[in-house]
Amino acid sequence: MIGDVLNIFNELKNSDFRILTGIELGMRNREWVPVPEILQYTNMSVEKLIYRLDWLRRKKLVVRTYQPYEGYRIYFEGYDALALNAYVRRGTFDSIGVEIGVGKESVVLEVQKKPTLPISSPETYILKLHREGQTSFKQVKRTRDHISGKEHISWIYASRLAAQREFEIMKELWPEISIPKPIDCNRHTIVMEIAKGNELYKSKLEEPNWHLDLILKEIQKIYSHGIIHADLSEYNIFVSEEGIQIIDWPQYVSYLHPNADELLKRDVSNILSYFSRKYGIIKDINEVLNFVRGEINK
Ligand SMILES: Nc1ncnc2c1ncn2[C@@H]1O[C@H](COP(=O)(O)OP(=O)(O)OP(=O)(O)O)[C@@H](O)[C@H]1O
Ligand SMILES: [Mg+2]
Repeated sequence: MIGDVLNIFNELKNSDFRILTGIELGMRNREWVPVPEILQYTNMSVEKLIYRLDWLRRKKLVVRTYQPYEGYRIYFEGYDALALNAYVRRGTFDSIGVEIGVGKESVVLEVQKKPTLPISSPETYILKLHREGQTSFKQVKRTRDHISGKEHISWIYASRLAAQREFEIMKELWPEISIPKPIDCNRHTIVMEIAKGNELYKSKLEEPNWHLDLILKEIQKIYSHGIIHADLSEYNIFVSEEGIQIIDWPQYVSYLHPNADELLKRDVSNILSYFSRKYGIIKDINEVLNFVRGEINK
């Protein structure tokens, strides 16, 4: 649990981060990293290393095996600690707030950055820690285009790739497309601004037609960038009086993707059926799809 990391984060010493980094690097080549290899990354005695490894193991940041040799690997929580440390060191944020969401494939927290001027208020951002590959590798392989065809798949690799992919597309789309501003990226995590308003599924819209039009125009704008979100629904759209913002980008595809038509249709249909169910607004899906594809077909 991410809570385990937060509870002990302040107790972690620089040498613990070096141990975790050693295991992280070692895991590029092997499943279990032997103690002598970890020792190379730390300048401590074997006894001290064994002592700290045992502490990290009891705090559930690393896990140990004795078969086929004594070795360690990090848990997601150890990997979380490394990313948090990187952000704190470079000043992206300095404190961690409440957990605001746990998805199938992510944990989302609020984080705060102290103001640079004493008169301004602290900035609050969102930290999204990816958790790809935690449930089932097969499932991940099937649904996530960006990791298909890679053989040495591990959760570290899958979640890191998902975070980087999400961060890159957000940087490409912001600010033209209405999404939270991407701030920083490290390992399997990204930092972004807080989306304005609330999730569409939690909101009672006063002018649903206005919001629906905004969403469809946004889908069209995204498509004219050659992109399909591919997981669009009332859960991944924030609405406010000012407009809308779309979150959750790691599974986006290019409009040239072999399943592009199907994915675009699914995105649009999710939105249309939500507005029809909740607000009784009926639109013809083919007309909407023609509208979305319009710019690119010209
Ligand atoms: N920028 C943001 N501002 C406010 N809340 C956010 C932001 N990003 C994520 N959240 C919250 O965290 C939740 C989970 O984030 P996100 O949808 O990106 O990942 P996910 O739901 O785990 O992915 P999946 O939809 O594949 O399960 C969102 O539903 C939302 O409540
Ligand atoms: Mg989501």
